[in-house]
Amino acid sequence: MPIYHQLGKLPQKKHIVYESPSGGMYWEELYSTLGFSGIYSTLYHVNPPTRYREIKEINHRLIEPWADAPVQPYHFFTNRVEHGGDIVSGRRCFMYNDDVTLSTASFTELDDRFYRNSQADEILFVHRGEGELHSPYGVLTFTQGDYLVVPRGVMIRLEHVSADNRFFIIESFSPIETPKRFRNEFGQLLEHAPYCERDIKRPAFREPIVNKDPQRLVIKRRNLFYEYELDHHPFDVVGWDGYLYPWAFNIHEYIPSVAKIHLPPPVHQVFQSAGFVVCNFVPRLFDWHPQAIPAPYFHQNVDSDEVLYYVEGDFMSRKGIEMGSITLHPGDVPHGPQPGKIEASIGKKEVYEYAVMVDTFKPLLMTQQVPPVMDRAYHKSWLP
Ligand SMILES: [Fe+2]
Repeated sequence: MPIYHQLGKLPQKKHIVYESPSGGMYWEELYSTLGFSGIYSTLYHVNPPTRYREIKEINHRLIEPWADAPVQPYHFFTNRVEHGGDIVSGRRCFMYNDDVTLSTASFTELDDRFYRNSQADEILFVHRGEGELHSPYGVLTFTQGDYLVVPRGVMIRLEHVSADNRFFIIESFSPIETPKRFRNEFGQLLEHAPYCERDIKRPAFREPIVNKDPQRLVIKRRNLFYEYELDHHPFDVVGWDGYLYPWAFNIHEYIPSVAKIHLPPPVHQVFQSAGFVVCNFVPRLFDWHPQAIPAPYFHQNVDSDEVLYYVEGDFMSRKGIEMGSITLHPGDVPHGPQPGKIEASIGKKEVYEYAVMVDTFKPLLMTQQVPPVMDRAYHKSWLP
């Protein structure tokens, strides 16, 4: 996140001796992107962050491909999948490609393991629940509606998570960023952006945890998981500063754009990455042209697969949707509102809906999680 943030105590300059009160030294670590050319942070540890005892592979895969999934519109009910599990087993992945995986999770057995996705940024959208995201950067308290943005390589642990929790998780193999067209050349969000820096939640300071008890770290690398045994507690940071750290933005703070006639989804964008965009639909007033049609027109974006995760409210263009439903409309065929929905939208003044949209630039592939919970008649639901 391109906002400078600083917590704890720092030496006057980088790369100089930083003495600890006990007469020892704190250990500097650079956490950097794009080699030494991207945004970065600098942390100061009580113990060197490089001490591992044992490393072993965990016998678990996030993606179980559905190899012969037909190319068609999909609607499936993620709430009807049996959820539960820990930081490794808790995710149910429904779709994926080279750029992204899309999963849901309800964690029931979070333990004391730390988790690091070494290859992907993650957005954990908090559909239900609250808790704390701990990392070397401090504590990010989260609540319903938060997008928790965790850059790749950041070690996290979810703590004090409420029992009734549900996350929609977007794993991105390129960086998650604020949309470029909402920023000036210095990275500051523009006046017409749908959110501003004041809406960004940043970590709060936590006193360094210093102990030499063995600790377990799960590292996710693409579809593989490894467990590392560390020889000390990794949240031993006395201070850090920089631009790279976990942050959060709440969907309820999003200011929607509205117009006299229908505006397309890009006005509802919330994040960008190299492989997809994330947009969100939030409660808003409808178009005010006397003959306006608030529902979207039929459309076919041939270079995008369009995913919607339904969060709350009445979704104006779809029938039969449950909270936690996901629809996928591949770029191969046109899509739009189901019969009667266009006519029903005419004259409506406002809509109450929350949904998260992911538009990918490469086709999505399906996993074995989908067939048991899919609406098998969905692709026929536009017939009269
Ligand atoms: Fe669409």
